[in-house]
Amino acid sequence: MSTSKSQKGDFDAVRADIKALLKQPEYDDGSAGPVLVRLAWHSSGTYDINTDTGGSNGAGMRYEYEGGDPANAGLQHARVFLEPVKAVHPWITYSDLWTLAGAVAIEEAGGPKIKWQGGRTDYVDDTKILKHKIAGRLPDATQGADHLRKVFYRMGFNDQEIVALSGAHTLGRCHADRSGFEGPWVNNPTRFSNQYFKLLSTLEWKPKTLPSGVKQFVYYDEDTETELMMLPTDMSLLADPKFAVWVRKYGADKELFFEHFADVFSRLMELGIQRDANGNITNTDNQLGGYIS
Ligand code: HEM
Repeated sequence: MSTSKSQKGDFDAVRADIKALLKQPEYDDGSAGPVLVRLAWHSSGTYDINTDTGGSNGAGMRYEYEGGDPANAGLQHARVFLEPVKAVHPWITYSDLWTLAGAVAIEEAGGPKIKWQGGRTDYVDDTKILKHKIAGRLPDATQGADHLRKVFYRMGFNDQEIVALSGAHTLGRCHADRSGFEGPWVNNPTRFSNQYFKLLSTLEWKPKTLPSGVKQFVYYDEDTETELMMLPTDMSLLADPKFAVWVRKYGADKELFFEHFADVFSRLMELGIQRDANGNITNTDNQLGGYIS
């Protein structure tokens, strides 16, 4: 990583330093990328379209109430990876840094180019997170299709977009000490591809109860001698006929998946943000929008 300070707004300099930290030989599968993608998504996926609260402004996970949400377990690793970048480019807000890191990680893993714009602001205390109960809004992996619809419709997404976003599970793995689930979804979890959909729709997944009592689905790959896994929510994408149409389409057509994923991921990063014609954010956090309590 460079140690040279940058001018305010020089996001390319920040991008370069994020790229430089992605390779982490001692960590998981050798990359910080997957956990950075999860950080970007969890910082945005709190959005509630009905109240115009939550979303990617604020970087509320720095405070205990949101950071301590059990859904966010393990994301401190992602935040720690990014601290040296923040130190060299102190002008960037955490909310911009976290979302930019997710976009860069996807691109560097061989995924599509993600449109990303800066300008987010950080909360200066936890008042809004507490007042608007920002914790408890992320999906619960033990549930099924109804739950996914409830949570993602609340963010303003539709069925096709729910499936496209879920394709991010081609990256990374589950950790017993974070979510309770264990293992990677695919054999090459640092490469962005449509492999998740291919495996989900073609392999025979068997239920397995871990020693902790957590239930997931597994497939033992003889070739690589690796046990792959699916969450109950992943399996529900296949069981639900409307979701399954998209699982099969994305499994068969990598280009279509990349196009749809790039579009929906960049909109995920924009949840809770309003911009003027020049791209400047007009709500300094998500409370100057429509909702006043
Ligand atoms: C990891 C659940 C959607 C990206 C995980 C983990 C769980 C989970 C339980 C394992 C965490 C751990 O133990 O470390 C869910 C559920 C979703 C969902 C229930 C609802 C559909 C998404 C979306 C994205 C995403 C929309 C991004 C667009 C990731 C990534 C990881 C991950 C990249 C791997 C993190 C790592 O390797 O550390 N997810 N997720 N997930 N999720 Fe999701």
